[in-house]
Amino acid sequence: MVRKIETALVQAGRAPVKQYGFVNPPLKRGSTVLHANVAAKKAVGQRAALEPVENYGVMGSETHFALEAAIAEIEGGSHAQVTGSGLSAITVPLLAYLNTGEHLLVPDSVYGPTRTFCDTMLVRFGIEATYYDPMIAPGDLAALFRPNTKVLFTESPGSHTFEVQDIPALAHVAHAHGAKVFLDNTWGILHFAPFRHGVDVSIHALTKYPGGHSDIILGAVVVNSEEDWRWLRLGSLQMGNYASPDDCWLALRGLRTMHVRLKAAEAAGLQIANWFAARPEVARVLHPALPTCPGHEFFKRDFTGACGLFGVVFQPRYSAEDVVRMIDALAMFGIGASWGGFESLVLPTTGTIRRTAGTGRFEGEAARFQIGLENIDDLIVDLDQGLAALRGA
Ligand SMILES: Cc1ncc(COP(=O)(O)O)c(C=O)c1O
Repeated sequence: MVRKIETALVQAGRAPVKQYGFVNPPLKRGSTVLHANVAAKKAVGQRAALEPVENYGVMGSETHFALEAAIAEIEGGSHAQVTGSGLSAITVPLLAYLNTGEHLLVPDSVYGPTRTFCDTMLVRFGIEATYYDPMIAPGDLAALFRPNTKVLFTESPGSHTFEVQDIPALAHVAHAHGAKVFLDNTWGILHFAPFRHGVDVSIHALTKYPGGHSDIILGAVVVNSEEDWRWLRLGSLQMGNYASPDDCWLALRGLRTMHVRLKAAEAAGLQIANWFAARPEVARVLHPALPTCPGHEFFKRDFTGACGLFGVVFQPRYSAEDVVRMIDALAMFGIGASWGGFESLVLPTTGTIRRTAGTGRFEGEAARFQIGLENIDDLIVDLDQGLAALRGA
């Protein structure tokens, strides 16, 4: 029976009969797994590379497998591999798929550490990245492919600047050129179905909404074919990629309530985004659900909802210093990077992002907001006094 997303989040990865009746799967830590005899060890070893079988700690335990089954199901994929961080959910598949002498295409709006990895480690391995405008027309993207282009990397919406990409059209071009499509789908968790839109490798920082409480670091990579699973899983094992079972267990717990947390974040985020949009200090709001966000039409077509992370561009009369004064004046918004937790956050955009393909420039200075689960009226009172500080009042 196909279960709906709320049901999957509650049930996936749980097997109470095998768990002595307990609702939740056990937290299993361990290195060595003991076998009844040599023949049993050999039999398990033959299956363990590609199947969820306990053989040796680094290959995963029941706790990892439970989370992987749940993430694969909610993404609509066939297999998932957990990784030690969201960043390693990006670097592990890039290293697993790419060879020396190959080329990849990366959106200019990519998460900063992904760019750093491409510009340092991949360059050292003889792999070249070309940065493209995330809003590029499919025909113009086609012109960027080379005979050795193996990966089209996408991230939608883009980090800090929130451009929503036309993933189906871009994926079509990539596949016509024999390239794999990678998507950092962290923002779109539960709301963007990667494999229905042409993605081959979907990447998540589970640190964000799945964790939901700002207390874990974890990632996952999801694929939807046996061929991709071999590339991903064998590459991951060769690199010794491992995730803490404690963090996996917390992510499993987070998944059970993620749907209601995301709904609350979406509603509060939209309410505050609309409040900003009506303010005279604001030039425009970079929330994918608002028409002022680049790629809003693709959001409407391809996403079923939003999370609580968006950007605000201020009127050009305000300087970067004015924005810093506003941020420092906010009492309810922590100044910090990771998002998807229960608490509201803010970061300046200007001066923190790097772009090399001429994109990500707006009419004024910008800031990124993550709306948490606080009372909205409290947040608005705080933002109102923050805007007073922006004005120098
Ligand atoms: C879009 C995106 N991808 C990946 C990551 C990396 O996640 P982690 O902090 O778990 O390494 C982040 C973290 O901010 C992110 O925003």
